Order: sequence, then C-alpha cells, then structure tokens
Amino acid sequence: MAKKVAVIGAGVSGLISLKCCVDEGLEPTCFERTEDIGGLWRFKENVEDGRASIYQSVITNTSKEMSCFSDFPMPEDFPNFLHNSKLLEYFRIFAKKFDLLKYIQFQTTVLSVKRRPDFSSSGQWEVCTQNNGKEQCAVFDAVMVCSGHHIQPHIPLTSFPGIERFKGQYFHSRQYKHPVGFEGKRILVIGIGNSASDIASELSKKAAQVFVSTRQGSWVMSRISKDGYPWDMVFHTRFSSMLRNVLPRMVVKWMMEQQISQWFNHENYGLEPQNKYLMKEPVLNDDLPSRILYGAIKVKTRVKELTETAVIFEDGTVEENIDVIIFATGYTFSFPFLEDSLVKVENNMVSLYKFMFPPQLEKPTLVCIGLIQPLGSIFPTVELQARWVTRVFKGLCGLPSEKTMMEDIIKRNKKRIDLFRESQSQILQTNYIDYLDELALEIGVKPDFVSLFLKDPKLVLKLYFGPCNSYQYRLVGPGQWEGARNAILTQKQRILKPLKTRALKKSSSVSASLLLKALGLLAVVVAFFFHLQWL
Ligand SMILES: Cc1cc2nc3c(=O)[nH]c(=O)nc-3n(C[C@H](O)[C@H](O)[C@H](O)COP(=O)(O)OP(=O)(O)OC[C@H]3O[C@@H](n4cnc5c(N)ncnc54)[C@H](O)[C@@H]3O)c2cc1C
Ligand SMILES: *[C@@H]1O[C@H](CO)[C@@H](O)[C@H](O)[C@H]1NC(C)=O
Repeated sequence: MAKKVAVIGAGVSGLISLKCCVDEGLEPTCFERTEDIGGLWRFKENVEDGRASIYQSVITNTSKEMSCFSDFPMPEDFPNFLHNSKLLEYFRIFAKKFDLLKYIQFQTTVLSVKRRPDFSSSGQWEVCTQNNGKEQCAVFDAVMVCSGHHIQPHIPLTSFPGIERFKGQYFHSRQYKHPVGFEGKRILVIGIGNSASDIASELSKKAAQVFVSTRQGSWVMSRISKDGYPWDMVFHTRFSSMLRNVLPRMVVKWMMEQQISQWFNHENYGLEPQNKYLMKEPVLNDDLPSRILYGAIKVKTRVKELTETAVIFEDGTVEENIDVIIFATGYTFSFPFLEDSLVKVENNMVSLYKFMFPPQLEKPTLVCIGLIQPLGSIFPTVELQARWVTRVFKGLCGLPSEKTMMEDIIKRNKKRIDLFRESQSQILQTNYIDYLDELALEIGVKPDFVSLFLKDPKLVLKLYFGPCNSYQYRLVGPGQWEGARNAILTQKQRILKPLKTRALKKSSSVSASLLLKALGLLAVVVAFFFHLQWL
C-alpha cells in the first residue's frame, strides 16, 4: 500500500513536496491554512496573522532560469526577474500542469503533529487539523513540514532604549505594503537586508528624507551582471564555486570585494561591512546606491537611543522630527504544532540533519522543507530536498546513524560560524552549489562529468562553466527528464526572449558571419581560460 504523507503548507515548498510525493508513488495530503496556494508569494493588501506578508513591489532576487523547477522551465516570455504576481502565476501553471490542487485541503490548519504510541516500529504520526472550527485527526506514515520561516517578526526592541517614549509610528517591515501615506515624512529604516533596502529605496521617492541605520553595513550587488546577464547566472557556476572553494579565503574575499566594488566604492557610501574578515551575504538592490547619491537616503550607524521625536545614533549624531521607524529586522521561526523537542533552535543553530531531519528520531519520517537560506534560489533547493526525502520515505535512500548525523550538524555549524560568525540572520546560511550537489549525490542525480565529457563535451562545458541551474539534476539517475539537455542548451534564448521587444535589423553578409564565427571560436578559447559567459 502506498505510504501516506502529510504536507503542511501549500507555499512553494509544499507544492514541490506534493509533486515529488506523486512522482515517487506516495499518497500525499496537503493541509493549507489559507484559501489558496503560493504562500509568501500571494500578495494581499492586508496583513494576516500567521501568514507571511510581502510589499506590493517585491521582485525576485534570483533569476527565472535559476529559479524554475528542474523539469518545468518558465515560459519564454517571462521577464528574468519576476514581480511577485508573475512568480505566483508560474506556481499556478506548475500546480495545474502536475495536477496538484486535488491533494490540497484549503482553510485547514495543522494544530498538532504527534508520534503514535508504536512510533519506534511504525514511524507513524497523528496529525490533527482544524477546518471551520471542526477538529479532525488522521494517521500518516510521514510528515513534510513546509510552513515557511518568514512569518514571525523579529523586533529587538530592547536594543532601542526610549522606544516607549517615541511619539511617531513604528512597525515591522512585514506591515509595509506600499509608499502611499508616507509622502513628505522623515523615515528611519532599521537594517540593511533585502527588504530594508527595497523599502528604503521605494520610500525615498516620496518621503522628505529616508535614513537607513546599520551597524554591520553590507555589500550591495546589482541584479544585472556582466553583459547585462542576471547576477546569479554568472555567480553560480561550478567553475567559480570550485575556485571559491579551493582558493584561500582571504583571496576569495578580496576577489569578491574587487568585483562588487567595481560598481561603487562601499566605503564612500558608508555601506562597507564592518568586520572585513567575515563573509557577508550581499544585498541585491539596483536603486540603493543611486538613492544615496541623490541624498534621498542617508546611511547612519546603529541607534543608541530614542526620544519623543528624535533618534540619537551611536556616533552621537541626532536626527530630529522622525515620523516613522520601520524595523526591517528579519524573522524568527518556530513550529507550534510540533512537540517541543523535535526541531530545536539552540545556541544559534538548527539541529536538523542537512537542514531537514531531526536526528534523534528512531524513524526518519518527519522533515522540514525550505528551512534554509542559500545564497541562491530557494526553489531548486527545496526541490532537491523533496526529491531526496520522498526517496528516504520509500526506503530507497538511507540515513546514517544518529551520532554521524549529530557530528555533521555540528561540523556544518562550525563552518558557518567560521564564515559568517554567530549572526542570527545567517543561521540558515549555506553554500549554494555545494548543498545542491550534496543532495543530488544522495539521490544519485549528480552528473558524472568525466564519463559525460567523452559522450557530450559541449554539454559538459555548459554544465561546468555555465550557470548551475536545476536542469542539471535531471540529466541522469532517478527522475531523469529527456528535455533537460535541451533546456540547458536553450536557456540563453529564454533569457533574451523577454528583452527582444524591439526588432533590430541585422546585416547578414556571409564574410561577416564567417568572421564572427572565427571570432566566436577565439572567444570560446579565451572564455575557457578567463571564464566569461557560458550561457
Ligand atoms: C520578501 C521576500 C523575498 C524573497 N525573494 C526570494 C527570491 O527572489 N528568490 C528565492 O529563492 N527566495 C526568496 N525568498 C525566500 C522565500 O523563503 C522563498 O521564496 C519561499 O517563498 C518560501 O516558501 P515556503 O513554501 O517554504 O514558505 P511560505 O511561502 O511561507 O509558505 C508556507 C505556507 O504554509 C502555510 N502554513 C503555515 N502554517 C500552517 C499550519 N499550521 N497549517 C497549515 N498551513 C500552514 C501558510 O499559510 C503558507 O501558505 C524571499 C523571501 C522574502 C520574505
Ligand atoms: C532574496 O531576498 C530574500 C528576502 O529578503 C532573502 O531571504 C534571500 O536570501 C535573498 N536571496 C538572495 C540570493 O540574496
């Protein structure tokens, strides 16, 4: 009999989990608290308790070719960075194509997930839900927790002495929807993450003055990289990832800083990260530096104290008449429906094996999907998580002993602290391609470059020097997709298609095209050595 799997949440993680269950012949049931799919990406005008909330202008920070699921490229005419409504449209087409909606019970909240008395032999769970006030419990062979981690706002109010005196308005960034109502105001944004930068940039067009307060500073990167290609297609190649892994850390840092500084000098703009010895996740924002250059945004250091109307900063400077403070200070997460001991966040680490399995369970039948923050798109990441997990549920893949898993968790955490220090915001940080490959190895879908090179050198060069996108994990092994090779070879087309909105005439003389070919060949050789564009 097919194993029954409970999937909690119908956001991106839940949808892909459903598909992987179906692909592996499992029998999934998805419980979704709200009335629709999409999770975080379904924008609403009002903020709802217990649900992620985004502002109207959110645009993806990872490009469409790097963000799509591995056997379902985004439509050719979709732009490279998507407005949240467009991304939601993709998820809707995806859910329809793989007929996923029929597994989802909407307006059904999971209240509790408990081990059955015979858990040590059966591995089964009792999942209790509530729908329209009606409570119901059912038994499942496995549980996939896909409930998201951008829901509970984190506001470190104790670090803001005097906040109780402050007469202006203050709120967490999740309350922010659009710039209406902030015209002519003096606004302070706390933090310099992606949301902070977006909100500050947007408000600075309407407000009298925007201040951004950051103690740490941050690198800021443009979504637009070399030759105008999306940043992640250039950044996330196997070749550059290998370089970043083998070169000494100081050299890697130096190279990255050189690259980032080509756009603007972060020291001059007051943005340079303070601890120069640590890696720092960059912020992706195309407007922030120009807004600073226009004076519409002023970068300040940490807040020391607040009065009724003014903000005093650590460096002694004071800004009077502040109307609004927005705390873009991130999120905390928890799983109220799980037993306390199951998923622990302690000493700044999540004790889950490969960010998924609680190591102490006798049977590996409960996982968290998407509880991770790679410096790359989360979508291919959760897809590989779900592909692996569903095979573990089926008994096709095994897990090591509890001791080995614990050791791995501790080792991984040490490495993270070494790179990023004990930063709360980077608890879930991990190296993008390394992690994808790790999961792919477990499933048996990591392409073997040596054997593949003899068969298909053109493809291998693309795999190695080109962007490491999800199609790479559909070339071999379980879940192989015959369209994968073509998807890799034609991705440039899909990048350029949405840009070709004005037909340009081309001269087509034979000699010119021959010359171009010769130049092209030369470029290939040069690119091979200098690693230019391998799209
Ligand atoms: C502003 C913003 C921009 C981002 N941009 C990008 C980007 O460009 N690229 C990228 O890769 N990542 C991005 N991310 C990361 C983001 O985490 C992922 O994109 C992704 O949306 C997370 O999906 P999820 O399914 O894990 O969680 P969610 O989208 O939060 O979905 C969780 C679902 O579970 C449901 N749920 C919760 N609790 C229960 C319960 N007890 N019972 C039943 N249902 C429940 C919720 O209603 C919700 O539908 C961004 C995040 C934010 C905040
Ligand atoms: C994109 O933005 C979200 C929200 O701020 C963040 O969690 C994620 O890490 C960002 N992704 C990258 C690759 O920077």
